[in-house]
Amino acid sequence: MDYRAYIAGRLHIEGMSAEEIAAAIAVPPDPAMGDYALPCFKFAKIFRKSPALIAEALRDAFVCDGVIGEVSAVNGYLNFKVCRAGLARDVLARIGAEGARYGSSEEGRGKTVCLDYSSVNIAKPFHIGHLSTTVIGGALYRIYAFLGYRSVGINHLGDYGTQFGKLISAYKRWGKREEVERGGIHAINDLYVRFNEEATEEMEAEAREYFRLIESGDKEANDLFEWFKSLTLAYVQTIYDRLHIKFDSYAGERFYTDKMAPVVEALCEKGLLKESNGARIVDLEPYGMPPCLILRSDGASLYATRDLAAAIYRKQTYDFYKCLYVVAYQQNLHFKQVFKVLELMGYEWAKDLVHVAYGMVSLEDGAMSTRKGKVVWLEDVLSRCVEKARAVLEEKNPALENKDAVAETVGVGAVVFGALCNNKIKDITFSYDKALNFDGETSVYLQYTCARAASVLAKAREAGISFTDVPAGEPCAQEFELLKSLADFPAVVHEAGEKYEPSLISRYALDCAKLFNKFYLECKIMQAEPDVRAFRLAVTRAALTTLTNALTLLGIGVPEKM
Ligand code: ARG
Repeated sequence: MDYRAYIAGRLHIEGMSAEEIAAAIAVPPDPAMGDYALPCFKFAKIFRKSPALIAEALRDAFVCDGVIGEVSAVNGYLNFKVCRAGLARDVLARIGAEGARYGSSEEGRGKTVCLDYSSVNIAKPFHIGHLSTTVIGGALYRIYAFLGYRSVGINHLGDYGTQFGKLISAYKRWGKREEVERGGIHAINDLYVRFNEEATEEMEAEAREYFRLIESGDKEANDLFEWFKSLTLAYVQTIYDRLHIKFDSYAGERFYTDKMAPVVEALCEKGLLKESNGARIVDLEPYGMPPCLILRSDGASLYATRDLAAAIYRKQTYDFYKCLYVVAYQQNLHFKQVFKVLELMGYEWAKDLVHVAYGMVSLEDGAMSTRKGKVVWLEDVLSRCVEKARAVLEEKNPALENKDAVAETVGVGAVVFGALCNNKIKDITFSYDKALNFDGETSVYLQYTCARAASVLAKAREAGISFTDVPAGEPCAQEFELLKSLADFPAVVHEAGEKYEPSLISRYALDCAKLFNKFYLECKIMQAEPDVRAFRLAVTRAALTTLTNALTLLGIGVPEKM
């Protein structure tokens, strides 16, 4: 139940729509005052009455029912108390009926959202810098699907550029087939790093020639390139599997090779293409931006050229409602330029392109250099966190079954949550110890809360206690606060989608888990009277369902026992 909308629908304020009223409704800091409140100060001008008098008039006109149990006017605020038994009945029934779908909606029906995320570079390390784009993109993918949209996940592979010429050159000099086969991406990266360390004029020229050979369709060069690509993709797939990440398309930069000429032509026809020192550019000075480079003086295309072609292709192929680019804020200017050029080309859908920017993740020990092969591989971060998780579990619960599987879920979850628990634009420093703290604002805390709830339910089932027919009584304060939070979940999912902000779900889950733990510690469940016990078990199950749904949207697994 969306209480704000419900209240707004029953208030009549001249000149204000129900949506506007709903948006003005706040949650009072002290729940004793009410569950919701409408400040009336803004209306004083319209009605030429004091806020206190307006609040009183609105109070007198409001009819309480089974949803809103009480309304009062205090100091210019109109305070509402929801009918507690009614809320409990509603939310338990809804969660019981919807289960794993609780929080989902149909708001996106018939609309497609394209999401460009992870977008790894072929033959380059998959490092911790790719964590955020991968897990934020993956979370948004699931959130939109949950909201009824068709999500299209696109891995815009970095598979175009002179670096592949360098790689072929390095391989031809020093590489051995079996070694690369065995070492995969690591061996490829070593070759590339070595090339950059030892590169001479002559080697650079050779690399340029190999790149030209790839471009002109030379078989040997292309076979090598495809081989490097397949090794890279096989490798990143193992990481995607651990992170529960999926894609519907791997159309990378190279895919647009033959789709750029029409874009350049169109730019030319529309009089947007200018010459500058032999290069072709779109002048963006009137918009306060540096020019967008379209073709270099040697005729080669650029990153932006491929993004222009990609956006047009996506619109044609998917007819998206929105197309999101989950890419670090370092590329702010790039996307502003690309979006502007598309707008100037007359594509009205350019307004539906969104750069979902995020901040940097670094490790507490400061090791995140991208120079000369000293990168922190995401794989190593995951493995290290899983190893540490295993040690923590060993200490907390030596008798735990399936320790390896649980450690994987907990360790990987901690890394994922590390990138999803704060507002995405913030730079974050990841600390293994903090991320694995059972009492912190962590995924481990959330998972442990779920395991706790699951264990209560398992005990009840073992004891043959049924809690499907829930007697509807007046919930106590702890129950009520928790149930109210559970009722908020669908609105949180909606807002996370609207603001491209999975961390809203993370924060929500932390708040909800806190309320569950308060309820769990302060209210007896199994020892309570049968009626109360059944009710509390139902509340426990509803909390578990909701928390599980939240974690699942974030891409974090929920172990049954911990
Ligand atoms: N591969 C690029 C990088 O690592 C990110 C690509 C983002 N997507 C895009 N359509 N430009 O920086």
